[in-house]
Amino acid sequence: MNSKILAIHGGHDCSVTCVDKNNQLRIFQLERFTKIKHCSFKKFRKENEQDSKFEDRVKFLDYIKFQLKEEPTYILYSVVIDEDFSLMKRLFPNSKFISMGHHTSHCIGAYHQSGFKDALVISLDGGGLENNHYGIVKNPQQCPLIGYSILKISDQKVDVLLTLNSSNAMVFTPGQYASPLQLISEIEDKNKTDHLEKMFDSNQKYVSADYLNSNAGKLMGLVAYGNVRKEWIDVIKQNYMMTPADAQNPMVSIMVGQQMISTLLSNREENEDVISAFLSDNQNSLDDITTLLKSTINCLSGKHSYDLAATNQHVFEELCWKLIKPYLDKYDFDVVFSGGCALNVIFNQKVAEHLNKTNRKLFVSPNPGDDGLSYGHFCSIDKTMNDKFSVYCGFDILDREKIPEYYDKYSKIDKVVDMNVSKIVDLIKEGKIGATMIGYSEVGPRALGNRSIICDPSIPEMKDTLNAKVKFREWFRPFGPVCREEDKDIYFDNAFASPYMSFAPLVKEEYRQKLPAITHVDGTARLQTVTRDQHELFYDILTELDNRGHDAVILNTSFNIKGNPILTTVEDAFYVLENTELDFLILEDYLFLK
Ligand SMILES: [Fe+2]
Repeated sequence: MNSKILAIHGGHDCSVTCVDKNNQLRIFQLERFTKIKHCSFKKFRKENEQDSKFEDRVKFLDYIKFQLKEEPTYILYSVVIDEDFSLMKRLFPNSKFISMGHHTSHCIGAYHQSGFKDALVISLDGGGLENNHYGIVKNPQQCPLIGYSILKISDQKVDVLLTLNSSNAMVFTPGQYASPLQLISEIEDKNKTDHLEKMFDSNQKYVSADYLNSNAGKLMGLVAYGNVRKEWIDVIKQNYMMTPADAQNPMVSIMVGQQMISTLLSNREENEDVISAFLSDNQNSLDDITTLLKSTINCLSGKHSYDLAATNQHVFEELCWKLIKPYLDKYDFDVVFSGGCALNVIFNQKVAEHLNKTNRKLFVSPNPGDDGLSYGHFCSIDKTMNDKFSVYCGFDILDREKIPEYYDKYSKIDKVVDMNVSKIVDLIKEGKIGATMIGYSEVGPRALGNRSIICDPSIPEMKDTLNAKVKFREWFRPFGPVCREEDKDIYFDNAFASPYMSFAPLVKEEYRQKLPAITHVDGTARLQTVTRDQHELFYDILTELDNRGHDAVILNTSFNIKGNPILTTVEDAFYVLENTELDFLILEDYLFLK
């Protein structure tokens, strides 16, 4: 591993990849540090926010500089704006800066995580800058925005088979998947309006359509409740069949959005005011654009919103198949998925089942969104990374020094014991809800055991208790199960090894009633499988359950404070323990009880 490289992606879901003092590869996601989901490094646009955010960025870089094995010779970057260069140059005065591409980095990073030698590597995503197929961008101003890439990588040799620039390219932005969530009232997101404000700077100049980047997973949770409506397919298709540049243009987005709304709501009297707002004649000023966009927020609910989610998923799958199928047919390779749309576990499951018929595998990156870009930048230059990736390479517990303080407090009231698996299984079977905070955090959006909330999925009311009293999230969002890799075929149909929760197999008919908290309404489950090498604690808990004659499945969801990113401090962990229905906390070698 090349400790002379530091890689940073500064756009939304900012992260840094580097080699630390212990010669370990590390990936630091800015959101875990600032506690702002999907946080970007670039300066926040609103004047009043700039100062505090600037402080956070300086502290983040100071933290990373302290972790580094040596001063980097090269800093590989994407989406770092001018003001931030000066900050980075102050900290790393001797480093050379190299600008990197978007999709190539998604693809190369995921390829190096897969361990495959030959692979078709596919990035399905929103828009990102691209130039040449080695990932290096010589002149960002002249780079096109593209929404997908299909690469063939044989023994590190990269061939670009298809991008939006190719002559046979399809006009398609998979990342538009998330755009309908704006319309859906069941999806709670304070950023719906906040981000809308940030689309324009103080001079009313359009700067970004970042507001749609988050929460696609919530939309996917609603899919199972709805039906595909044939009459909506074409208009939703138009929403996808934009170039990324069009998708970023508010006028084009609004025109398509207008059509979508009026088609979707044409028979609904109660929404006539929304339609008439859209059909109003004056749409020329930016104020009007903002007003129009705001008027669409949360305008659909109930059956209409479920059907929109289902139809959106249907169209997404149809277009993705059309894009990738010719390449799956032509090349007899294993397949790697990256880009934010690789988080679509429903589509991943279908592709994995398709490939399985010809004995091929689908690998899905654990951090396929832009939080994985810095790792892709790093691997584009350091070609030695195959098989060296561990998903548990994120932030350490940031305030370790506070552990003794909490230990003293809890030992005085006899509420702390040494960690032991048997006691944890006792608690789980009593219906208690626990959390883990162990070592370095997992990277990517999913908790995989080191910052997880766990409990018994066989308890019928567990899902509602978790949603209402611990996670404070929407009722319709499913929770994922964990089982030992060797047990996957006992509990699930068409299950694949899934260490990063990448697929949604069906729960076997006979276990759907027995495991209600992890069985989604359509019978699927977002499964994580573990070997003992991958996660010793999870594996041992599952084995102990099995030894006692129980189903060896636990529920796993991310450990966070309501709506915040996965947490990184002891202080936050105890806040959740003491202020929600969480019952116990596994913190390194201790077990804290309430
Ligand atoms: Fe991306």
